[in-house]
Amino acid sequence: MIRKYVYGTPFNTEAVIADIKADSGSPAYGTVGLEEGFSFMYTLKERDVVYGLGEANRGINKRGGCYISDCTDNPNHTEDVRSLYAAHNFIVVAGDTCFGLFVDYPSKLTFDIGFTRMDTLAIICETGDLCLYVIEGESSYDIVKQFRKIIGRSYIPPKFAFGFGQSRWGYQTKEDFRQVAEGYRKNHIPLDMIYMDIDYMQDYKDFTLHEENFRDFPRFVQEMKDQNIRLIPIIDAGVKVEKGYEVYEEGVKNRYFCQREDGSDFVAAVWPGDTHFPDVLNPEARKWFGDQYRFLMEQGIEGFWNDMNEPAIFYTPEGIKRVSQVMKSFLENPEAGSPWDVKDALEALSGNQDDYKAFYHQVGKERICHDKVHNLFGFNMTRAAGEAFERIAPDRRFLMFSRSSYIGMHRYGGLWTGDNKSWWSHMLLNLKMMPSLNMCGFLYIGADLGGFGANATRDLVLRWLALGVFTPLMRNHAAIGTRDQECYRFENMEDFRHVVGVRYRLLPYLYSEYMKAALSDDLYFKPLAFVYPEDSHCLQAEDQLMLGNEIMIAPVYTQNATGRYVYLPEEMKFVKFLPNGSLYEEILPAGHHYVEIALNEVPLFIRKGKWIPIADGAEHVEAVNASRYTAVGYAGGEYVLYEDDGIHKDYDNPENWKTLKY
Ligand code: NOJ
Repeated sequence: MIRKYVYGTPFNTEAVIADIKADSGSPAYGTVGLEEGFSFMYTLKERDVVYGLGEANRGINKRGGCYISDCTDNPNHTEDVRSLYAAHNFIVVAGDTCFGLFVDYPSKLTFDIGFTRMDTLAIICETGDLCLYVIEGESSYDIVKQFRKIIGRSYIPPKFAFGFGQSRWGYQTKEDFRQVAEGYRKNHIPLDMIYMDIDYMQDYKDFTLHEENFRDFPRFVQEMKDQNIRLIPIIDAGVKVEKGYEVYEEGVKNRYFCQREDGSDFVAAVWPGDTHFPDVLNPEARKWFGDQYRFLMEQGIEGFWNDMNEPAIFYTPEGIKRVSQVMKSFLENPEAGSPWDVKDALEALSGNQDDYKAFYHQVGKERICHDKVHNLFGFNMTRAAGEAFERIAPDRRFLMFSRSSYIGMHRYGGLWTGDNKSWWSHMLLNLKMMPSLNMCGFLYIGADLGGFGANATRDLVLRWLALGVFTPLMRNHAAIGTRDQECYRFENMEDFRHVVGVRYRLLPYLYSEYMKAALSDDLYFKPLAFVYPEDSHCLQAEDQLMLGNEIMIAPVYTQNATGRYVYLPEEMKFVKFLPNGSLYEEILPAGHHYVEIALNEVPLFIRKGKWIPIADGAEHVEAVNASRYTAVGYAGGEYVLYEDDGIHKDYDNPENWKTLKY
């Protein structure tokens, strides 16, 4: 049962696609306050667990933290960070009383979940213009499924996107890309994609190619495809201000960029220097921006990643003025101020709220200040691309994932969790975010494996890959200036071949489970408590996840560990993919166990009575033969395999489903 409450005059975010009539009463749970903006207060019971918030810091159980939905370009995800790149305002309060809340509000929103007072959930925002959806159900899982139904089907990528991808900020020339392709192919480490970061463009201009380095691009795209590798270019939100650059000229001429109050095009500096932001909330401008992707599609490109779309701002001319004033007054009269004022002003240059208040979107006849709809930019940039793909090639699937997002974007693309670090704690954070993201509709998800910032070690990359084997988006990505972390850069490269290879052996299973989740608005990753609601230990399991209907994963995420503790809510078969290609199998009874897992092994647990198909290895997705498999797990049952051509969208074809017996 879902009830919708409308307060003030909300902006239509289009997150929810179901037509739900507004309820005239007030929510059955908590207290709504409208005196100053909006507040929702609820008294949490001692044992209540709070799920949700999608891409957010901290645990699967969000209790004890304060989270602010305010899409932010901040690469330093320490424990106290409240805003990441996305804003996913859906939570479930689970306890004796169970209910879900979706606060459909596209500006800054605070979720204080037992942080200020351990027993208080407080949701607060400055203006009272929003829709609140209150969902009642039998269980947390049921509530999540109801929510997923009203926000629409999750994005489905092409099958190649379930392969492994290599990325690094710093690849510049064809030679750099050839070297990566060779590093993988020569060493027989599977690979399906190489990502192109900003250097493939001419002066970081969207929808251009570096004139010297990428001459005859279609031929190069084909050269890579001949090796079964797809190139996946990045697209940034800001369009470079440069006379004569077609995208810029067209955008200016047609008034497709976000404007200041005085009608001039708003300027924000990002990688290319001064840029304008396409007004992706304006349907006409969105269509125009989406059509630009055609430039690369026509050269053979089948996938993209959208970046810097919070939108990130390094500085603005107005910001520079603000800093100069602080500097000037400090230099003129140092005694009256402090050098820290200058430091603070400099630090406040990027992502400054004053800048987000200084530009506007044209939505229909209305001009809307950006800060009122800030969290919708990434969503609509990705929607621009998704809608364009639909127009350009309606029967085909394209790879698309974004850094910033709001619920609703899950229909157009997946996401990666942005700039993490080569830290063990970030591997655990990666694991914890996955089910929360699924609850908000995002199924095609993954983190930068091996870590983006900081230097990775061999063991970290291996362990992180052994988690990445299970995330739909499996991509190794690193920042410029950090240690090389492509799989073939490390000693005993065969361990990497093996670990990445496990992904390809599991592909028929993982793909089937993804498609089942996507096609029935279900979860691919679940917290243990969703499957074993009666088991109180499961409520506390923060480092294990259920995947699909058959398996549980419990990766090793600490350095120098030779294994880990794991909790089994029921008897399960412990399976390890050993480096010699064979499987270790052992039935373990319910309860707590310490399991040995070497650096070059990939563990998983099969639920009692279930089994999964495991294919032979392959070096790219197309070479995986799903009809040749070994059944692993408990004999006697059936497994429903989903298989299609991975290119088109005929998901409802009954021939895609096969019931396998063991
Ligand atoms: C920020 C993105 O998060 C990162 O993945 C990318 O490498 C850099 N921008 C450079 O484009």
